[in-house]
Amino acid sequence: MLAAVDDLALTGPSLRVRIPREEDAAALFAAASDPEVTRWFSWGPYTSQDEARAYLARLPAQRARGEHFDLVVEHLQAGPIGISGLGEPVMRDRHAVIGSWLGRAWWGTGANRECKALMCHLAFAVLGFDRVGAYANVEHARSQRALERIGFEREGVLRGYHRHGDRTLDVVVFGLLRAQWEAGPLPAVPVTVAGEPPPAFVVT
Ligand SMILES: CC(C)(COP(=O)(O)OP(=O)(O)OC[C@H]1O[C@@H](n2cnc3c(N)ncnc32)[C@H](O)[C@@H]1OP(=O)(O)O)[C@@H](O)C(=O)NCCC(=O)NCCS
Repeated sequence: MLAAVDDLALTGPSLRVRIPREEDAAALFAAASDPEVTRWFSWGPYTSQDEARAYLARLPAQRARGEHFDLVVEHLQAGPIGISGLGEPVMRDRHAVIGSWLGRAWWGTGANRECKALMCHLAFAVLGFDRVGAYANVEHARSQRALERIGFEREGVLRGYHRHGDRTLDVVVFGLLRAQWEAGPLPAVPVTVAGEPPPAFVVT
């Protein structure tokens, strides 16, 4: 069973999202040592590959405990280009929150759209969630626009929601319900699924 989870991968026309591996550290370090990539996060930029290694080492236990489920976003030719994950899962109410980062060279290329198509296929069609939410800092216009153009609905502002160091930040909350996903642009992206999802993230 565990081997099948390690093999989980969703593949689209140019990208794959898959279970991260130790050897992804170099590529993730290279991309997230760019301060523009981590500007809106509570962490980063990476200053050593050890930080990427330590992050990767934490993932299997978080996934097994049903806390957080991060996947590597891999370009089929270029290799790992970022991370996309599902956090804050509430299995009873069938929802989770998506978060992503891509190396700067991939911004504006359509990679975000394909990545979100793969991740939403994972969330709705494979895991059985009924809602995928997303947060964006109130000043992060690019992320807000990127979410809206793939069908996420702006729902409001959560005040004092994210803590970054000693600052407390407001975020815009977005949501994509199953029916909106089905009617939106993402299911047009063809997706092939291999391996098995982690049991803690499967809605029963
Ligand atoms: C967030 C992220 C994944 C989005 O991917 P992307 O490839 O940049 O997004 P897209 O190109 O698909 O969409 C961005 C949209 O914002 C628009 N945009 C870009 N800069 C903008 C700005 N300063 N203000 C408003 N809109 C902006 C783009 O024109 C585009 O809209 P359009 O396609 O209608 O023209 C990527 O930018 C990233 O990895 N950023 C760093 C990590 C991060 O901040 N993650 C999100 C945390 S909430």
